[in-house]
Amino acid sequence: MSGSLVLGVETSCDDTAVALVDPDGAVIASCVASQVALHTKYGGVYPELASRAHIDKILPTVQAVLSDSGARPRDLAAIGVTRGPGLIGSLMVGLNTACGLGHGWGVPVIGVNHLRGHLRSADLEERRVKFPAIVLLVSGGHTLLARLESTSDIKLIGSTLDDSAGEAYDKVARMMDLGYPGGPIIDRLAAGGTPTKRFPRPMLRQGLDFSFSGLKTAVKYYLADNPDARPQDVAASFVEACLDVLISKCRAALEKFPVSSLVVVGGVAASPQLRAAAAGLCEDLGVELCLPPVKWSTDNGAMIGLATWDYLAKNITNTLEPVPGLGMEAF
Ligand code: KG4
Ligand code: ZN
Repeated sequence: MSGSLVLGVETSCDDTAVALVDPDGAVIASCVASQVALHTKYGGVYPELASRAHIDKILPTVQAVLSDSGARPRDLAAIGVTRGPGLIGSLMVGLNTACGLGHGWGVPVIGVNHLRGHLRSADLEERRVKFPAIVLLVSGGHTLLARLESTSDIKLIGSTLDDSAGEAYDKVARMMDLGYPGGPIIDRLAAGGTPTKRFPRPMLRQGLDFSFSGLKTAVKYYLADNPDARPQDVAASFVEACLDVLISKCRAALEKFPVSSLVVVGGVAASPQLRAAAAGLCEDLGVELCLPPVKWSTDNGAMIGLATWDYLAKNITNTLEPVPGLGMEAF
């Protein structure tokens, strides 16, 4: 291994993201080309348009990161690229581009699990995670709990049986005609409202698995039956129910498996309400809370770059095939 940096490439969904990261998680440069404007009118990600936009944006994004940092291909120890989970067309653009660049530059290319990237986002810029840890990963595609014994030893202990929490935010925003992505919009609206309606908390006291589709459906029926309800109050009621479930499951996991820290990652970890609720829980239980900075909570190339260093340390070289349904424990 000659270079001292990893180029992390992330195209699993609707962000074309590239970053340069050193082995300690320092982010030398990062660029994210967002596709929000493209998908807004559909109220969600339109997969074929996402793949085409990645094709347009990926090389300029790589170029931007290289020119911002002044790094050259010979400074790279590897290119790490998301191989799954994600949208197959979007994954293929990242994988094929990384393959071509690696071949041309003589740099190894490693296929990285997007979920492992989210886990490592909590150690970007500074080491925060104390092991052993419980991790809550809440994104648009996933909601799960895992035990983390070390940076690479992960055991899944709970996951959603249907929708993810982020998906519920996005779908509720779509029902209310608020735009996409729903998370930040619902958060802002909820901040000005009062939780006047008690929505169901699916599976609240049933183990460590989650279910959010019933909550989403309850909001749908409530909106149909109460067309004059204040949107701020509906949003606040939805957020309260969602956080009640997430925080109760974290509490149950922390009580079942005593650990040093709780790590909260994934796009929904950008929510100020979730951050505050997790802080309250950790204070209560005397556990350290580890949160990535907000900008590293949503999809980015830096988290893939840092995860790539774990693969290099373990000599893991995956085939560069996209795996849309890749599980959390896989490399
Ligand atoms: O991790 P991420 O960027 O992509 C996936 O891997 O899915 O997560 C995107 C999800 C979306 O559902 C979005 O609505 C949600 O994260 N999200 C938020 C916030 N920012 C993004 N949810 C709640 N509050 C936010 N501030
Ligand atoms: Zn993600």
